Amino acid sequence: MDCQPKPQILFTEDEIEATVRRLAAEIRRDYQGKHPLLIGVLKGSFVFMADLIRILDFPVEVEFIKLSSYGKGMESSGKIKVVQGLRAKVKGRDVLIVEDIVDTGKAVSFLLDYLRKKKPASLRLCSLTDKPSRRQVPVAIDYLGFTVPNKFIVGYGIDWDEKFRYLPDICTVESE
Ligand code: IMP
Ligand code: MG
Repeated sequence: MDCQPKPQILFTEDEIEATVRRLAAEIRRDYQGKHPLLIGVLKGSFVFMADLIRILDFPVEVEFIKLSSYGKGMESSGKIKVVQGLRAKVKGRDVLIVEDIVDTGKAVSFLLDYLRKKKPASLRLCSLTDKPSRRQVPVAIDYLGFTVPNKFIVGYGIDWDEKFRYLPDICTVESE
């Protein structure tokens, strides 16, 4: 099996669990009495979403959206489009985007604009990780898990060319 390069642990399973609990507590506090629509960005957010909604002990609705692929390399193409859309109506809903990582900021700022046009009652962003050193488009993250260094990260649902999603920890990989 091709498992090169070798991932190095950045955040352990336990650290991730504590962080997801903290994020859930912040979200619970802010959405009391509401029925938010959580929109996960495929595929990288699916593990995070699964853990998050099981800690949020109030009713939420879950949707996923898929944006144009990141490609095979470690660089975003920068051209973003929706390749798998939403079934739920966004108009009038309290929408919370659930992301795996904000890197250049291009994908999520595209998504924020796309959703804003659909007139949600409110629109916020929750991201498990943030790589601010690479930002090209300013993005305000309302609920942030970890700030990560300028390295490619994998694990806990996050891939490099479809590899390493299964890792329970968040790891870094370096290209040779
Ligand atoms: P952005 O448009 O550059 O902010 O990033 C768009 C998407 O690229 C993120 O939501 C991730 O799915 C993916 N991505 C960015 N950086 C990484 C990384 O370090 N590891 C894995 N995926 C990444
Ligand atoms: Mg993503």
